[in-house]
Amino acid sequence: LIKHAEQIVQVCANNEDMLVGEAMKNIAVMKPEEGTSGLSLVIDREGNIADFGTDAKLEAKYANWSFENVLDASGCCLLPGLVDAHTHPVWAGDRVHEFAMKLAGATYMEVHKAGGGINFTVEHTRNASEKELFVLFKERLQRMVKAGTTLVECKSGYGLDVENELKMLRVIERARRDDNINIEISSTYCGAHSVPKGSTADETTDDVISKQIPAIKAEMEMGKLHVDNIDVFCEKGVFDIMQTRRILEEGVKAGWRINFHGDELNPMKAAELGADMKACAISHLEEISDNGIAAMASARSVAVILPTTAYILRLRAPPVRKMIESGVPMALGSDFNPNAFCLSMPLVMHLACVNLRMSMPEAIAASTINAAASLGRSETHGSIEVGKRGNVLVIRAPKWEHLVYQLGGQNDIIAAVVCRGKIA
Ligand code: NIG
Ligand code: FE
Repeated sequence: LIKHAEQIVQVCANNEDMLVGEAMKNIAVMKPEEGTSGLSLVIDREGNIADFGTDAKLEAKYANWSFENVLDASGCCLLPGLVDAHTHPVWAGDRVHEFAMKLAGATYMEVHKAGGGINFTVEHTRNASEKELFVLFKERLQRMVKAGTTLVECKSGYGLDVENELKMLRVIERARRDDNINIEISSTYCGAHSVPKGSTADETTDDVISKQIPAIKAEMEMGKLHVDNIDVFCEKGVFDIMQTRRILEEGVKAGWRINFHGDELNPMKAAELGADMKACAISHLEEISDNGIAAMASARSVAVILPTTAYILRLRAPPVRKMIESGVPMALGSDFNPNAFCLSMPLVMHLACVNLRMSMPEAIAASTINAAASLGRSETHGSIEVGKRGNVLVIRAPKWEHLVYQLGGQNDIIAAVVCRGKIA
């Protein structure tokens, strides 16, 4: 039981699976009636939301329930647990030296072509054991939880061969099954994240299709692994449109949702490809075309916008306003990776509002219900609805907008993070 709250942000009120266009501006916020004490929320033993409403109503209704935990949320607001739609959180080594190079003017692709970037991380990740990677990963997940994330998409993609991609997916799986880690995970296979040293894009595509995917499927059939999504870095000099299509098709055959990187540094018509393939989500989209915008809107493919990357690499901003106004469903992600070291969705929302001109309601919708939709989970996640997962963020502030407003201070006002009914 959480009681005496000032506001409950529901994000969407009618069990909608995502919020699009104007609807993103009208998120539902419940407030106590004049002269009454506050709002309460009840989570059942299965970890799902059982009820919410005024203190008075819930006190009467649940008078003979015995609660395992009672949280006093006086002076606090309740929001749905945040959903981070895009991260690369399993890796060893860091790239702080590259941050200096980029500050001095080097572009992402210059660093990449000089053997840095993803391939630098691949080398360190290949040399790390499963156990070492798990320790690093777990610490990062815990930092995400502290920043309010309760569901996160996690990619492989720093292994780039059968053995090392499996190693990364096993690390993700171990965290998924660990009861001491209070965050839910959607796992993504991204074996086509880069072309490994000594190989070509065509050879890598063949390796992904004929070796890596079958090996993962075999482990899934044995019940050892679970994979939700398939990803490719569709980019000039990495994987082209044809290679991307082949890999995504193979992923669909394996039963995975399409959720890939497109139109980031160069216009590739990746949005058009994704819409044509009924992609669940496409990330980045700084260089999306007008046709791509129209295609994504009609396919209802979710655009996963990553404000940290555009900020750090000083890229052209993705045309967020145009996309929202054209009816493209929009989500946000931290893109946590060694290039963009950010574990905080509140900071991501802040950047989205200031740099990409989103409103605060749009940013919270994009970080909850729409991010859940990008992972195919909006029936169970992303809003405060009876029957949905008991993932709730409690912030010490009189209005929920403080979570976006307090630049860099967001963690200080997070009073509690509840995941599946457990205080994380
Ligand atoms: O989303 N663009 C490709 N992948 C990541 C970067 C990964 C890396 O640089 O290690 C991204 O920004
Ligand atoms: Fe990424």
